[in-house]
Amino acid sequence: MKKVLAMLLAAGMIFSMTACGAKTEAPAEEKKETVEENTEAVEENVEGTEEMDGAMVLISEGKLVMATNAQFPPYELVSDGEGVDGTGFEGIDIEIAMVLAEKLGLELQIDDMDFDAALMAVQEGKCDVVLAGLTYTEERDQIMDFSDSYAQGVQVIIVNEDSAIKSVDDLANADQIGTQRGTTGYIYCCDDYGDDHVAAYDNGASAVQALKNGQVDAVVIDKAPALEYVGANEGLVILDTEYVVEDYCVAMAEGNRGLQAAINVALNELIEDGTVDAIIEKYIKA
Ligand code: ARG
Repeated sequence: MKKVLAMLLAAGMIFSMTACGAKTEAPAEEKKETVEENTEAVEENVEGTEEMDGAMVLISEGKLVMATNAQFPPYELVSDGEGVDGTGFEGIDIEIAMVLAEKLGLELQIDDMDFDAALMAVQEGKCDVVLAGLTYTEERDQIMDFSDSYAQGVQVIIVNEDSAIKSVDDLANADQIGTQRGTTGYIYCCDDYGDDHVAAYDNGASAVQALKNGQVDAVVIDKAPALEYVGANEGLVILDTEYVVEDYCVAMAEGNRGLQAAINVALNELIEDGTVDAIIEKYIKA
C-alpha cells in the first residue's frame, strides 16, 4: 500500500517526458558527434573487423532486430491484414520501430514472442532492441539499457461492472488480481499484495478473459490496452484511480553504448519533428 502511494507521488513528479536512464544523458551536440563516430565504426564493423568500443553493435548485419510481444494493442498486435509495410504486425511500436530503422539505414526484423521472453532475448543478445510498451524501471535498468522515453503509460485497474472493488485501496481485498507475466503490473501487485494474490497470464487478453469468467477479481494492466479490452468486452470498467504512471522506452543490451546513442538521436529527431506524436494519435484518439 505504502508503495502504491510512493509510486503515485513519484509519478506526479516525473509527469513530464523524462529521460529513461537519465544517467547516460549527453548534450544533443555531443550525442550527434558520437553517432557520427559510431556510424564510421559500424561501417568498419560491417567489414568484418572485431567489435569496437562505442560502436553500434548489431546482431545481424544491416538489420535492426526487434523483439516484442504482439498481444498489446494498440502498441503491438498481429494484424488482420498485411500489417505495417507487409510485416503482419501493426501498432504504435511497430511504426516507431519502422521509422527508427529507416533513419538508421537498417532493415527492421520483428520477432514476436512472450513478453518475458522478449526481456530475456535482449539480455541474451538475441535481438537488438525491445519495443513493447516497455516501461523503464530502475530494476530493469540494472540488466539492460534504455533509450529516452517516447510515450507514457499508466497502470490501471479493470473490474466487472458490479465489482466490490471500486478504487485502488480495494485491491487489497481482491483474492486474485490478474496480470500479464513479467510486466510492471505483475511486479507491483506482487510487491503490494503478495504473490499468492496475483495470477500471471501469457497476455492481457487471457487475464481479461479470466476476469470475465470470475477467476480473478481485477486486472492490472496498462491503460491503452485496457481501453481496447473494455471497448471490446461488455460489462467491464476501468476504475478512475490510476495505479502507477510510467515511461515507455526502447530497451537494448547492457553496454551497447553506440546503439543506445544512435537510437536516442534518431528517436529524439522523430519526437521533435512530430512523427512520434502523429503515430500515437493515429492509434489513440485524444
Ligand atoms: N508496460 C508494462 C511493462 O513494461 C507492460 C508491457 C507489456 N507489453 C507487451 N507488449 N505485452 O511491464
